[in-house]
Amino acid sequence: MQSESSTGSASGRIAIVQGLRTPFAKQGTLYKGLSALELAKIVVSELLQRAELDPREVGLCVFGQVVPSLSAPNIAREVVLGTAMPKNIEAFSVSRACATSLQSMTSAAEAMLAGQHDVAVTGGADSASDVPFTVSKRLADSLVAASKARSLAEKLSAFSRLAPRDFIPVPPALKEPTTGLTMGESAEKMAKEAGISREEQDALAHRSHVRAAEAWRRGVFSDEVMHVVPGPRYDSPITEDNLVRKDSSLEAYARLKPVFDRKYGTVTAGNSSPLTDGASALILMTEGKARSLGYSPLGYLKSWAYAAVDPAGWMLMGPSYASPIALDRARLRLRDLDLIEMHEAFAAQVLCNKKAVASEDFAEKLGRSEAIGDIDEEKFNVHGGSIAIGHPFAATGARLVTTTLRELKRRGARYGLVTACAAGGLGAAVVVEAEQ
Ligand SMILES: CC(C)(COP(=O)(O)OP(=O)(O)OC[C@H]1O[C@@H](n2cnc3c(N)ncnc32)[C@H](O)[C@@H]1OP(=O)(O)O)[C@@H](O)C(=O)NCCC(=O)NCCS
Repeated sequence: MQSESSTGSASGRIAIVQGLRTPFAKQGTLYKGLSALELAKIVVSELLQRAELDPREVGLCVFGQVVPSLSAPNIAREVVLGTAMPKNIEAFSVSRACATSLQSMTSAAEAMLAGQHDVAVTGGADSASDVPFTVSKRLADSLVAASKARSLAEKLSAFSRLAPRDFIPVPPALKEPTTGLTMGESAEKMAKEAGISREEQDALAHRSHVRAAEAWRRGVFSDEVMHVVPGPRYDSPITEDNLVRKDSSLEAYARLKPVFDRKYGTVTAGNSSPLTDGASALILMTEGKARSLGYSPLGYLKSWAYAAVDPAGWMLMGPSYASPIALDRARLRLRDLDLIEMHEAFAAQVLCNKKAVASEDFAEKLGRSEAIGDIDEEKFNVHGGSIAIGHPFAATGARLVTTTLRELKRRGARYGLVTACAAGGLGAAVVVEAEQ
């Protein structure tokens, strides 16, 4: 972890110069013909143009994708090669599940704080519509054996023991490898054990849609969300997220059936983040470089922290573990914050984390003398969250950072916390500071 104070250099702060995202779209809808890489190239090209940044100034590209494309495993490098950036810009890809574009941002910042680069492009993209189906282990073994066979008879014999079920395509696993639980099942476990009611979850999801719809109506997102015009006809611009419900009603949530525990559960399609396609990106610079190029940044990275919990327990509690560390590193308390943006994987996860940070018992568990703090509703996910806006896994972190910094500016406020849970029991937290 590095922070302003720990760099010891006046130009040591990392500036977030600009951020941009595509509209987010429900799986299998507006972007069903586009891969994650294509979405990434679209957003990065537009970001560079909007920032009027000479691509030759960029030294590093760090990008991420959670559901990998087998044809382009290093998405960061393909983003460089597929945009106006010179081909000699180095690039690497990262994955930290739902916190991937927080990781791409902080990995680039670490390289910059080490003096290796002064301008970086970072972000993340995912397409839930373009997932890599693979083959069964038995068919894969047969294909390898056939590729090594020296005769037609040997080739044929490599397939001789396969059963019809071995030819069934295998979708990517959304289960935790160690527990076998999906994220939704983990959310369900947390809701049950913490006593989070269906009503509380539905109310939070409804709030998310109402706030996001209002933000769209008021034009809050217009500078941070680009228009995408997909080919081959290029005649239907996509200008808004298509998951935000402009007519959200609490009664409609109550009618939905639980998905992850059909009999006793409370987690539904309405109070979960949906499977989504989209991309987002940021331009980072050292403060000195930003000034020398004449930019007035959105803000600065103040501190960050990652943490982990046992995925067999309450898997989605990462924000409650990572946030106090990031706050300590920023020398701030929760009450000093002007905005808090928490990724809404599931309403149950958000509610569990809100309870934990307000709890003395949880603080004691962390070895702290007092609770981290109560989250003020008026500072929390003020323009809705992932439940309404959608959650293209790797794109969410950069979305949260851009929205937070723009809103801090709008309010003339200073400090924001961005936090996310992630598969594997991971948690991420970043403190940002708006340009004053
Ligand atoms: C929860 C999940 C399984 C639902 O998938 P789905 O069934 O395809 O969801 P849909 O969007 O089709 O919604 C199902 C129904 O609920 C309705 N619905 C969803 N949200 C609603 C809302 N806010 N209000 C009213 N109705 C709603 C839909 O209209 C749909 O109705 P229909 O069947 O009449 O068309 C899926 O979104 C999922 O897996 N989410 C979790 C993803 C995840 O694990 N992310 C990682 C977290 S970090």
